[in-house]
Amino acid sequence: MESKISQREQWTSKLGFILAAAGSAIGLGNLWGFSYRASQGGGAAFVLLYIFIVLIVCLPVFVAEMALGRNSMKSPLFAPVELGGTNWYPLGILFFIAPIGILSFYSVIMSWTADTFFHIFFFGLPKDISEAENVFKSISGGSSVLLGHLLSLVLTAMIVSSGIKKGIEKVTRYFMPILFIILLGLAIWASTLSGAWEGYKTFLLKFDFAELKNPQTIRNAFGQAFFSLSLGIGIMVAYASYLSKKSNLPKLSFGVATLDTLVGLIAGLITFPIVLTFGLSDVISESTIGTLFISIPSGLASSGLAGRIVAIVFFGLVFIAAITSSVSLLEVPVSSLMDKFGYQRIKSVWIITLLIFILGIPPALNGGVLETLISLTDVLLIFGGFLVTFFMGWVVPRRLDSELDDSKVGTKTVRYLKFMMRWVAPPIIAFGLLISIFELLKGWIN
Ligand code: PFF
Repeated sequence: MESKISQREQWTSKLGFILAAAGSAIGLGNLWGFSYRASQGGGAAFVLLYIFIVLIVCLPVFVAEMALGRNSMKSPLFAPVELGGTNWYPLGILFFIAPIGILSFYSVIMSWTADTFFHIFFFGLPKDISEAENVFKSISGGSSVLLGHLLSLVLTAMIVSSGIKKGIEKVTRYFMPILFIILLGLAIWASTLSGAWEGYKTFLLKFDFAELKNPQTIRNAFGQAFFSLSLGIGIMVAYASYLSKKSNLPKLSFGVATLDTLVGLIAGLITFPIVLTFGLSDVISESTIGTLFISIPSGLASSGLAGRIVAIVFFGLVFIAAITSSVSLLEVPVSSLMDKFGYQRIKSVWIITLLIFILGIPPALNGGVLETLISLTDVLLIFGGFLVTFFMGWVVPRRLDSELDDSKVGTKTVRYLKFMMRWVAPPIIAFGLLISIFELLKGWIN
């Protein structure tokens, strides 16, 4: 039976929420996914499409998810039912299942990150690309990846089991400022490289109009925008359910989306100069999910001790970003289980963590399974984003109105958001969804 959480926790302040939500958004998606997808082609067209999707589509989805969470004050499993009745239980179930599936492979990539970090720390950088490839093979296979997957999950579980204020908020409060400082430091360092300008040009200025029509680029930009902003799977529903009624939802979502997009772009300003300075375009052009773990260490090898330090700092940064995201992925099913059975947080955390560990074994041991899960994820996020926007814009518009009125934003902003949420975002998301499904099936058939 569903049981109410008598005393729902709350973030201590608006800043606490912003850092936690930005911590969720800024993750492997920005540092690994953004450069991986941007390098799959598309160049500046990919970046432009990505920014367009964030502004026109993702911001309304973001506000819709937050309105759903704060209005219902329920976990993602029950929030849609609370507002729209039992017909909407399947949306809650989607929110419950999707983060479990995603975290099962997310922690595998966290394991690669931690392993690369320790490998460089203790043994130094690989001499050349082929050695880097071998190191990556050993890191991403066998028992070490299972151990890394387990430890990443246990670390995540320990933070989530301490709760919202003492766990998630506390960790993100310390980690996010560190992350911004490291990121800026690395970007400044990358700007001093000989291939920096070439890198910026490739990343930001190589514009090919035809790419705007390339379904692969469109799909990548949609997937990246939803993945990076943690949208479509209930994370922002969960986080907003711990917000006070006084906070301004549109302003908060705009702040988080801006921070996340900036970090994605700055990550590109770090990785692209490295790639072009050290002649790694070949590795990048046959881009695989392991590209970052091969290209960065082998590129930095020629810079001696300085390169080693930069690589250690870089992979440390990636891990910090990942942990503040993995906690948000875990919070969704954990809070849902607490809501459903009235379990204590700790019990709920360890049940879900065990389940995720088991589900993560196949992607940990098989790269093909991992790639399939990643491509399925894009479709799932876009689908969830469509449903939640449609739900708030068309099914329970009064609830949306009351949340936006509570937000005390100007009437123009409110009107603009409602218009976007009803008329603009759903058709564009539906278009992105169709292209993504089509591209997914094409990939499977080929
Ligand atoms: N937004 C985070 C990232 O970019 O890594 C976390 C995340 C959310 C990952 C949702 C995956 C996902 F589907």
